Amino acid sequence: MSFHAIEQAPARLNRSELAVPGSQPGMFEKAAKSDVDVIFLDLEDAVAPDEKVQARKNIIQALNDIDWGNKTMSVRINGLDTHYMYRDVVDVVEQAGERLDLIMIPKVGTAADVYAVDMMVTQIEDAMGYKKRIGFEHIIETALGMQNVSEIAAASKRNESLHFGVADYAASTRARTTIIGGVNPDYSVLTDPDGDASRATHWGDMWHYALARMVVAARANGLRPIDGPFGDFQDPEGYKAAAKRAAVLGCEGKWAIHPSQIALANEVMSPGDAEVTKAQRILEAMSEAEAAGKGAVSLDGRLIDYASIRQAEVMVEKARQIAAA
Ligand code: GLV
Ligand code: MG
Repeated sequence: MSFHAIEQAPARLNRSELAVPGSQPGMFEKAAKSDVDVIFLDLEDAVAPDEKVQARKNIIQALNDIDWGNKTMSVRINGLDTHYMYRDVVDVVEQAGERLDLIMIPKVGTAADVYAVDMMVTQIEDAMGYKKRIGFEHIIETALGMQNVSEIAAASKRNESLHFGVADYAASTRARTTIIGGVNPDYSVLTDPDGDASRATHWGDMWHYALARMVVAARANGLRPIDGPFGDFQDPEGYKAAAKRAAVLGCEGKWAIHPSQIALANEVMSPGDAEVTKAQRILEAMSEAEAAGKGAVSLDGRLIDYASIRQAEVMVEKARQIAAA
């Protein structure tokens, strides 16, 4: 291990994160009763410019009045390049900051963007005498944000998670996409010509590099990496495939832009029973070996290394969080 200790963000379940437009208050109660882990009430791209002011009022009222239970509550503010953003922060944090857990910052481009919001939130929290500190979630969704992802991840003690905003990222990098978060058949490998055998096409994941880069920056700073939207909510299989790819790379959650995607995210992002049982057995084998003063730990005739033990600890802790939710 490096001598540099990585401080972990507060442990929160973040398997699913539901986007709810602030301009659609009719959707709030249903979201509060859903099985989602985190809800973000949106002031940014799901809200038309002439609805921004009313959406802000809706969100403030809803944070104060609706029983959100144990949901983690977030508000996506407008970008720092808009004149809506300062009022989003001031009004929402002043008037509903007690029930707000997180602020989601879209299109974050530099560490200075994070610093600016941190400065504002810190002043408001101090002035209001809030005891709880509001955390930050950042959407990495521009070429600039991806270029500076490591500095952004390290820019504030409030940082909790990085999110891959694939729709804006595609726009920013001018990637050729088909559907939001989906794959493009042009991003494929054609097998070599091989005699008479027909050549096969293997589809690739065009988001692999971006997602993997974001996961590394998040984990190196103790943050949760979260995969963003999948646009076609009538394609649950496509959603699950995207969620699984993200989970394999280390993401611990995925957005739901439709309530039907919540269960899919929770399913993919929860460890399976067999995995948890195996992890528990690894930890038991480790404590037995330690009690017996043995250096090497084995299970089912195989040596277990310390990397597997650390993975088992993460798995068992996640299962505990899910059981407690
Ligand atoms: C999310 O905001 C995205 O752009 O994908
Ligand atoms: Mg976006």
